[in-house]
Amino acid sequence: MGDITGKRVLVREDLNVPMEGDRVTDDTRLRATLPTVTELADRGAIVLVLSHFGRPKVPSADTSLARVRPAYAAVLGRPVNYIDWEGDAAAVAALQPGDIAVLENTRFFGGEEKNDPATVARFAALGDLYVNDAFSAAHRAHASTEGLAHVLPAFAGRAMEAELDALEKALGNADHPVAAVVGGAKVSSKLDVLTHLVDKVDHLIIGGGMANTFLAARGVDVAKSLCEHDLIATVEGIFTAADRAHCTIHLPYDVVVSKEFAANPPSLRTCNVHEVAADEMILDIGPAATEALADVLKTCRTLVWNGPLGAFETPPFDTATVALAKTAAALTKDGSLVSVAGGGDTVAALNQAGVADDFSFVSTAGGAFLEWMEGKQLPGVAALKH
Ligand code: 3PG
Repeated sequence: MGDITGKRVLVREDLNVPMEGDRVTDDTRLRATLPTVTELADRGAIVLVLSHFGRPKVPSADTSLARVRPAYAAVLGRPVNYIDWEGDAAAVAALQPGDIAVLENTRFFGGEEKNDPATVARFAALGDLYVNDAFSAAHRAHASTEGLAHVLPAFAGRAMEAELDALEKALGNADHPVAAVVGGAKVSSKLDVLTHLVDKVDHLIIGGGMANTFLAARGVDVAKSLCEHDLIATVEGIFTAADRAHCTIHLPYDVVVSKEFAANPPSLRTCNVHEVAADEMILDIGPAATEALADVLKTCRTLVWNGPLGAFETPPFDTATVALAKTAAALTKDGSLVSVAGGGDTVAALNQAGVADDFSFVSTAGGAFLEWMEGKQLPGVAALKH
């Protein structure tokens, strides 16, 4: 990058954080920007932070980044200017080296999501250099995530570097044996992930509602459980591909069931998968299966985790997720496992287990993490390589 004193650097961050009223309820993404933004400011650059916020169809106060600015300034511990799209060129020209400003929501321009060259040029005119630090938006080929990399000298930010490095260690160039935990409600939403992973990992641990579809494909009567019966043939195909690739698919052999989906229901019980009654549904993996999975992790060098094992928002159906996450965290602390996790629900689940800090790396990304697990090229990353 060389000497950047007085240079205007457009830094694409992901300030798309959850808010309730004026309060940012999870500032992880804001904190992730710290290394890049402070380094650039300390090196005398004029730091212009670009981000989307929400999915606005038209500009609205609700989706204005002015809402995020106070929390962002608190996280950075420095003043943060806010620049609206009206009069932005003059406002940018008034900034001094070392200043930090957040520009208004990039999605207030229709051309952002279309990666329209006019919008790319509109953003590019404000800066001398471009830094993409938003891995979590890198699956979008938008003007601020992809287009800018083609028209300005482009660099990866520190958070982007850290994400790519961790993901490379987890799947690209991983130490084997590798285990993947894939949970979540539906096979249909993770079909490409599962298909890609059987060729990459040694152990595929299936959890959440999607495990029921796998169990059904193995002839288990899952009764009232969430299950995509129309995907049974597809799941058979995944079993065949896994056999071919010497990947072991792990399904639970004991489960936690209940007649109703509610917190601590009176009908709660644990049983063998073959003993689910007609009026029951599976809501978590059982204790014996959880212990067996812990034993699998003890034989592994690398773990990649996406999705909870049970209906973890509702107690006690978070038990298996919390227990296995604790095992993974302990193995990571001992130095025997590299553990990488990502995806919205996953991070919430690890926080609930109190172990997010003990994993080797927790991605800030939701959709981008999934697309990476599908083996897809992320346009924002590809453009930087270009
Ligand atoms: C996310 O929250 O996963 C990213 O900010 C991307 O947001 P999007 O799905 O609206 O593009």
